Order: sequence, then structure tokens, then C-alpha cells
Amino acid sequence: MNVLVTGGAGFIGSHTVVELVQEGHCVTILDNFCNSSRRVLDRLAQVCGERVDVIEGDVRDAALLRRAFAAQQFDAVLHFAGLKAVGESVEQPLAYYDNNVGGSVTLCQAMAEAGVFRLIFSSSATVYGDAERMPIEESFPTGRVTNPYGRSKWMVEEILKDLAASDPRWAIGILRYFNPVGAHPSGLLGEDPRGIPNNLVPYVAQVAVGKLDCISVYGDCYPTRDGTGVRDYIHVVDLARGHLKALAAIMRKPGVNVWNLGRGEGYSVLDVIRAFERASGRPLPYRVVEPRPGDVAECWAATEKAWHELGWRAEYDLDTMMRDVWRWQESNPRGYDDQP
Ligand code: NAD
Ligand code: UD1
Repeated sequence: MNVLVTGGAGFIGSHTVVELVQEGHCVTILDNFCNSSRRVLDRLAQVCGERVDVIEGDVRDAALLRRAFAAQQFDAVLHFAGLKAVGESVEQPLAYYDNNVGGSVTLCQAMAEAGVFRLIFSSSATVYGDAERMPIEESFPTGRVTNPYGRSKWMVEEILKDLAASDPRWAIGILRYFNPVGAHPSGLLGEDPRGIPNNLVPYVAQVAVGKLDCISVYGDCYPTRDGTGVRDYIHVVDLARGHLKALAAIMRKPGVNVWNLGRGEGYSVLDVIRAFERASGRPLPYRVVEPRPGDVAECWAATEKAWHELGWRAEYDLDTMMRDVWRWQESNPRGYDDQP
């Protein structure tokens, strides 16, 4: 298939590009590099054994999209491009609605004009808010989100449902990611957050490599087995493969389809720290601090729907995720910008 991947230079997009190329698809990345490095493209070439076509630009640029769709016939679009920092979204809500909601609307308009109706959208388990019970099924209520980032993902989901209801040609897969972590096993691709990481695993990795001093554990009084927050961490390569399965599924099943992409297992903050200590062979200092506002106690996925409908489930366990993060972090202590 000929696939356009928006945000394909980012963390999840780049790993998905690798899987697409390895499965024989023809890939074009569209990215404005606002949260990624152009060096990802060299690394992708190393991993894939070929260079991937790139359009440098913004998904909100309707004229650019029109040119891109006129230049070649895409069979499908994987839409990763967007902003993802929860705290930043509270400070700059308009930037988040503009990029995430506006960008998705502009993209769908350009797709419809060009007669391209297959879309995979990166959503998030954050749309479930504080779910009443675990594991979280796709049919659980959504929309009780507490920040503009989460609301932007939920809004796009609703827009896509309206769109599919308006025209039977649309075939849309909404993928609700749980907690993507890990790195490519080659050590060439990984997560490279700008500034101090907001998320647990990149923070732990930077403590292990000596860039940061001490992990802050956000609360140890949650009603969980060791009192710290529990999440469903999923290896980014597993997640990437889920996209290929979803792409195959929407070819058979038009309309809107929603799938959770998680492992279906919850791990605590302390589980993650211990797994990273095993992976790196280093003791990792941590201290317990106040809970982070807006955090839920626990969150993990029901995985049956993805298994039955996609034939997909995650393979890699927490130790493998942490080993791959450590390999990436150790060989690229300053991320992609380490290279001359
Ligand atoms: P990322 O920031 O690494 O990748 C996003 C990519 O999109 C970057 O390369 C960035 O430069 C590009 N981009 C952003 N806005 C753009 C625009 N307007 N036009 C063109 N390119 C643009 O993020 P990621 O972790 O790879 O996440 C990918 C998608 O998955 C995002 O939509 C994110 O909200 C969603 N998601 C991520 C997580 C996570 O934990 N990483 C969890 C749930 C959902
Ligand atoms: C966060 C976002 C969520 C987004 C997801 C993407 C918030 C509130 N939520 O999810 O919307 O979809 O990232 O991956 O930002 N923790 C620490 N110390 C840290 C960092 C985190 O103890 O330095 C804890 C958190 O309290 C949580 C767990 O580690 O229990 C995971 O946190 P994180 O990696 O930030 O992911 P989420 O909060 O699940």
C-alpha cells in the first residue's frame, strides 16, 4: 500500500514507519519537525535499508496537503502528527486545539477532496478519564477528560465518528494507546523528549544515564498494591505492529472502529523503577513526592477486542521494554542530537 504517515518522524510514527517498510509498504512521511529531529530520517534509512520519502510541512497547511495528494495516490493515512504534553496543553489550550483538532480537520478535508478515505488516528486512553473499573473496555464512557490535550483527542474521535456517519466511504481506525514506552531493539530509534521529560520512563532513563539526579515518585497512597500509580506500559514496536493490523482491518471493515492498544497488565511506578534497575544494572535513587494533579490511580486495557478483531496482542514484557530503553539511552545519551 501507498501510505502517508503524518508525524512519522516522531517517537511512535518512526517505529511504525519501520514496520510498514519491512512489510513492503511504500511510505511518505509528512512532518514539520516541531517535536522531532531530522536525524531520525538517517536512522530510519539505517534501520530500513532505504530512505523514506519526506514532505516537510504542517498538517494544517491545506495547500501543501492538496499538492501532496495530487502528486501521488495514497491508499491510506496514518495520522500521528499532534502535540502531546498535558501540562503545556493547560497553559496553551489554543495551540493544542489548533494543532490537534484543526490539523485533523484540515487533513480529513484534503483526504476527502483527493478521494482517500482510509485513516488511522492516534488517540489515547486518556479519553476514558478516571474509569470506574479495570480493565478498560472500548465501550466504556469517554469524554470526562481533565485537560485540553485529552479533550482534543476526544474531540477528534467525535469528529471522526460524525464524518464516518456522513459518508459510507470512510474507513477509520481510532487507536487508544495506553502507555507507549521502549525503543527500537537496534538502539537507533527511541524517545527523545525536549527538555526535562514529563513521563515516567524517559525520566527514569535520564536518571540512569546521569542526566538527572533523582526520580520523583508522584504519590504512594493510591489504592494500588504498593500505593504508587499503575499503568499499562506497552512496547512501541508492539504498538507500531498494532497499526499495521488496524490498517488491514479497516480495509475489510468500513465505518469507525475503536481499538485499545495496550498489554492488558498494570505495573506500578516502583515496578518500573525496579525493572529499569535490572536492565541498567544501576541502583536508581527515588523519593516520594506529592501526587501529580489529574493523575488517576490505575489504568489498564481490556485487550480482547484487539485480539479478536485485529489478531493482535502485545508480545514484549516490561523487562524487554526497559532493556530496549536502556540500550537507546546508553548509546544516545543526548538523544538524536548527539550526532555530529
Ligand atoms: P511525537 O511528538 O514524538 O511525534 C509527533 C510528531 O508529529 C513529531 O514528529 C512532530 O514534529 C509532528 N507534528 C506535530 N504537529 C505537527 C503538525 N502540525 N504538522 C506536521 N507534523 C507535526 O509524539 P508521539 O509520542 O510519537 O505521539 C504520536 C501521536 O500519538 C500523537 O498524536 C500523540 O498525541 C499520540 N499519543 C501518544 C502517546 C505517548 O505516550 N507517546 C500516548 C497516547 C497518544
Ligand atoms: C501521561 C498523560 C496522558 C498521556 C500519556 C502519554 C498526564 C497527567 N497524563 O499519562 O494524558 O496520554 O502520558 O504517555 O500527564 N510518574 C511519577 N514520576 C514522574 C512521572 C510520572 O511517579 O516523574 C508516575 C505518574 O504519576 C503515573 C505513572 O508514573 O502514575 C506514569 O506517568 P506518565 O508516564 O506521565 O504517564 P501517564 O500519566 O499515564
